[in-house]
Amino acid sequence: MKGTTPEGARNETEAALWVRDMFGRVAHRYDLANHLLSFNIDRYWRAQTVRRVRHILERPEARVLDMCCGTGDLALALARAHGGPVLGADFCHPMLLAARQKADARQASVALVEADALRLPVRAGSLDLLTVAFGFRNLANYADGLAEMRRVLAVGGMAAILEFSQPPNAVFAALYNFYSRRILPAIGGALSGSRDAYTYLPESVRKFPRAAELADEMRRAGFAPVSYEYLSGGIVALHLGVAA
Ligand SMILES: C[S@@+](CC[C@H](N)C(=O)[O-])C[C@H]1O[C@@H](n2cnc3c(N)ncnc32)[C@H](O)[C@@H]1O
Repeated sequence: MKGTTPEGARNETEAALWVRDMFGRVAHRYDLANHLLSFNIDRYWRAQTVRRVRHILERPEARVLDMCCGTGDLALALARAHGGPVLGADFCHPMLLAARQKADARQASVALVEADALRLPVRAGSLDLLTVAFGFRNLANYADGLAEMRRVLAVGGMAAILEFSQPPNAVFAALYNFYSRRILPAIGGALSGSRDAYTYLPESVRKFPRAAELADEMRRAGFAPVSYEYLSGGIVALHLGVAA
């Protein structure tokens, strides 16, 4: 279980640079492509994540970080439910600029920091909730990502990982794979001007660990209990883990 391996990247440093550069190129069209390609269901996936962690967000003193926050949709949704500040972190400057604009326009209590998810600029044990939506799969080393998530959470704090998965039903999986490998790169490429970004997406999902495997890896990293649920037939899985 290493991490993402974009074509041409020879090591973890090159993989991370490729990912950062790729998101930099699609940032201006990221939200539009996201909502169109998912038929707007991505909003429901994030809303469901917020629902599952609402018991933490209801505590006014809860310290919350959304890593790989991108253009900020999950951080904004968390801030709305929390009523207090939420920190968003991402290593791609253009994505953060889009998040800043959105947060300002909505007067949301979201602070943003440019940071690598493998080296978060927060003290050990300083968070009650750490979320990541569609970012974890892009990390250059998943075990290191989980170790960093565990490090920054206080004992009893919760990690929530929302990520693409593989539908368990073979027929649905075949239909979905046809869509994501044939149709999605064409539309995503046309919208963003970067076809490679939308070829990388299904490839990185295909190589990403299955939901049960990721849950095991979370347990190995020091989370217990760990649970997961499939959303939209398993296109996406939401993993929850308590820092033990
Ligand atoms: C698919 S986008 C998801 C953005 C947002 N969370 C959402 O739900 O729309 C993935 C984001 O993860 C960020 N990312 C990937 N690897 C990262 C890393 N090692 N450190 C920080 N951010 C990272 C990218 O820059 C990108 O903004």
